[in-house]
Amino acid sequence: MSLKTTINQFTFENCLMNASGVHCLTSTDMLDVLNSDAGAVITKSATPQERAGNPSPRYFDVPLGSINSMGLPNNGFDYYLEFVLGQQDKTPEKPLFFSVAGMSFNENIDMLTKIQESTYTGLTELNLSCPNLPGKPQVGYDFEQTELILTEVFSFFTKPLGVKLPPYFDIVHFEQMADILNKFPLTYVNSINSIGNGLYIDIDAESVVIKPKNGFGGLGGDYVKPTALANVRAFRTLLKPEIAIVGTGGIKSGQDAFEHILCGASMLQIGTQLQKEGTAAFERISRELAEVMAEKGYQTLDEFRGKLKTI
Ligand code: DHB
Repeated sequence: MSLKTTINQFTFENCLMNASGVHCLTSTDMLDVLNSDAGAVITKSATPQERAGNPSPRYFDVPLGSINSMGLPNNGFDYYLEFVLGQQDKTPEKPLFFSVAGMSFNENIDMLTKIQESTYTGLTELNLSCPNLPGKPQVGYDFEQTELILTEVFSFFTKPLGVKLPPYFDIVHFEQMADILNKFPLTYVNSINSIGNGLYIDIDAESVVIKPKNGFGGLGGDYVKPTALANVRAFRTLLKPEIAIVGTGGIKSGQDAFEHILCGASMLQIGTQLQKEGTAAFERISRELAEVMAEKGYQTLDEFRGKLKTI
């Protein structure tokens, strides 16, 4: 039984890793992930300068998932670059992902230029989908802007690059975004970021539960799994086969992991459940996934990846 997977030239002994934003703010957090059963780690999305983020409370666990409006608190680009450069040769069996989320077109280009010019050999994830910055729409919902930025990025960036997308909810939007993404030599597409701007209410207090944006925040967990599966499935069907899919959204059991892979995911990221359970989630979900596979008679992920049946 193997949970091994590949993206492009990268091999991962385990298909599970953290989702950016969870358990990856500091080098201690990221080393925890690397020391667990996870097959890789991704950094918190970096901005050029460190940021404190939005006022607290800004994350809240709810029975069916989570709501957050963190506002990109992070230790700044240089901190994460130093981490990945220092780590990449120590754990070559666990490839690294460096997430960047500039607040503007130029910030993204500046950070990607520095990554291109560095000796970094891992994957880079361009986050086009942070929903929690007051006054800043998610880039992934502006198709023209998405094409503009990718055009500029691929005029100079030659390292393996993926994009983190927001969820889409319309077949025409899947098709339009896939047509744009297919124009570029992307290594992978990561679907989905949180479902933006949900509202969770504490009925006793008759109040919102997080402070920023009057309580509006990104949803994760059980709420988002069917949307995540649809996005993974749609992009696996519409994107050229050289672009791998990273599946994120609502994975809290081996069965959820199996479903994402059946829809076409090569690697799986865990956010809300990792926040709730800690890094022990990787061992438990791996074991459960292996059990589902054993029951079904599968030895490898390749035997069922993308093989979702329709009726
Ligand atoms: C944050 C949330 C996101 O969903 C994201 O992609 C980036 C940042 C945040 O609020 O910090």
